[in-house]
Amino acid sequence: MGHQAASSTAATYSLLLLCVIHNCFANELKANQTALLSVDASLESAREIPATLFGIFFEEINHAGAGGLWAELVSNRGFEAGGTNTPSNINPWSIIGNESFIYVSTDKTSCFERNKVALRMEVLCDSSGSIICPPDGVGIYNPGYWGMNIEQGKTYKVILHVRSSDSVNISVSLTSSDGSQKLASTNMLANASDVSNWTKMEFLLQSEGTNRSSRFQLTTTNKCVIWFDQVSVMPLDTYMGHGFRKELASMLEDLSPRFMRFPGGTFVEGIWLRNAFRWKATIGPWEERPGHFGDVWQYWTDDGLGYFELLQLAEDLGVSPVWVINCGISRNDEVETADILPFVQEILDSIEFARGSSNSTWGSARAAMGHPEPFQLNYVAIGNEDCGLKYYRGNYLKFYYAIKAAYPDIKIISNCDGSSTKLDHPADLYDFHIYTSASNMFSTNRKFDDTSRTGPKAFVSEYAVTGSDAGRGSLLAAVAEAGFLIGLERNSDVVEMASYAPLFVNANDRRWNPDAIVFNSWQQYGTPSYWMQHFFKESSGATYHPTTIKANASNSLVASAITWQSLEDENSYLKIKIVNFGNATVNLNICVTGLQNAVNSVGSTKTILTSTNLMDENSFTEPKKVVPVQTSLSNAGTQMVVAISPHSITSFDLSLSQACSKSVI
Ligand code: AHR
Repeated sequence: MGHQAASSTAATYSLLLLCVIHNCFANELKANQTALLSVDASLESAREIPATLFGIFFEEINHAGAGGLWAELVSNRGFEAGGTNTPSNINPWSIIGNESFIYVSTDKTSCFERNKVALRMEVLCDSSGSIICPPDGVGIYNPGYWGMNIEQGKTYKVILHVRSSDSVNISVSLTSSDGSQKLASTNMLANASDVSNWTKMEFLLQSEGTNRSSRFQLTTTNKCVIWFDQVSVMPLDTYMGHGFRKELASMLEDLSPRFMRFPGGTFVEGIWLRNAFRWKATIGPWEERPGHFGDVWQYWTDDGLGYFELLQLAEDLGVSPVWVINCGISRNDEVETADILPFVQEILDSIEFARGSSNSTWGSARAAMGHPEPFQLNYVAIGNEDCGLKYYRGNYLKFYYAIKAAYPDIKIISNCDGSSTKLDHPADLYDFHIYTSASNMFSTNRKFDDTSRTGPKAFVSEYAVTGSDAGRGSLLAAVAEAGFLIGLERNSDVVEMASYAPLFVNANDRRWNPDAIVFNSWQQYGTPSYWMQHFFKESSGATYHPTTIKANASNSLVASAITWQSLEDENSYLKIKIVNFGNATVNLNICVTGLQNAVNSVGSTKTILTSTNLMDENSFTEPKKVVPVQTSLSNAGTQMVVAISPHSITSFDLSLSQACSKSVI
């Protein structure tokens, strides 16, 4: 323990001696800021932590998906965002060239039945004649979501649909934000007869340069009338080739999550039901999806990231999907229980889509999308934060019994909190959300201590420190949340799942603060709360060992201990986590009893998350200001005297030898 041991007080050393003889609490603690942590690693006291304990919650909020995790670069690719009444707003598309050269409008002539709006571009100028087009042409461009990140050497797949009764000669290019620098370009040439009906065109563009705020443009110097619809630009290089932005998906993978709750949150409900997420409108060929305006978070999604893609993401991450369904309730309107059956059928269809055989009605729709094998869908959450609403219980029961009748193995999650009082309806799990100050979050680590040990288990599907303690993701928030999670580990006999919220924020559209992962078109970083979750990566499915802390100062320490086996090196580890929510260093005497294996100092480590200031945050300029720092633990053993920094999360990972032998002290 080196310098840490040197800073320990004489009183702490006397405790160490006591610990060696396995009598951890024989004496009263006297010195200030001193504590004793006893870990009972005996087999008799051990308990298995649920394999699903820690996961992630993906909500379409803050442009988390559209303009985020979903790698599509074009925003409003079907020209539907402006509504179904034409002419409509084509934003964020813009026109290149003035009105004497070009006239752009929308009409309802698309070949796609569910999204009839198409863009009509009438080019008035020509390469010769009375109105000569500007040399770079006229046309339209799309800046994507706050600029497209186009990188040198990377290939982008362009797909668009086109119709014209003229021959066309269109330059398809990726350029800098003002169009002056061409990064990649190709020509779309077609005779009138080739494009007289809607025709799908595909191109690969390889970029010759890097520009973080690029745009996609379609330009010409030829007089023509041409219609465009469903225009897509995707990088070829995506996570597992399934369309997810690689660096963002990798940050999820790095958390080793065990489940993924999706797609909301309030996003599932809508402010009004008419704007709620409807899964059937998000499946099938992307060109045929109508897209929708999410009125809760106030933005349009083309729904390229739909129900299928989210199931795919869960599969790619190796996690259990948790499908949150709308139970006929939005923030402002509700379907009466007497009228709810069509909504129930809609959800039964969604489960068949995920799990049904490829011969079933909806299973065949999934198979047609390239996934003949069923997805492993085992959890359905009925509604989001709807418990107190008028028709929730009535609607809930209709969904519950219909789903259980068809899929008895599916675990159903109620929105009603069963942590203090018994639920008045059947459920496998109940949802629990907590957004609060840092001190409340820390003290809530005791929340489930008194919860009944029988009945449905808790799914803490949304937790975060919010408000002034959180800033845009502070160390203080992360430390408090870690304290809370330690409490969940301790109570993992009644808490089965937990996830931080929200997961992502596009820095250009911060609808909710703070979030775990911040990104823009080309950069990303984890907030301290993201890194805090790394301390809990090994917990799901691990073995829990009871701990006891005895301290003589006010109790600002919480701790937990697990043993787990690494798949990488196949080694077993005892992981002792300590959260110090106080502002003083604590000299801690750690005493492990009952361990079956010896501790190897080689391979043992100490990891700490802390910073100089409580409110320190990460940022694009300092993405690694508050991140875990790992050092080797040369004197790892069953008795250790360590200094626990103020406002910190510390993990001691003791490498265990395979054979049962005497512990190293
Ligand atoms: O996580 C952000 C929002 O907080 C979710 O949409 C909602 O469930 C909760 O109120």
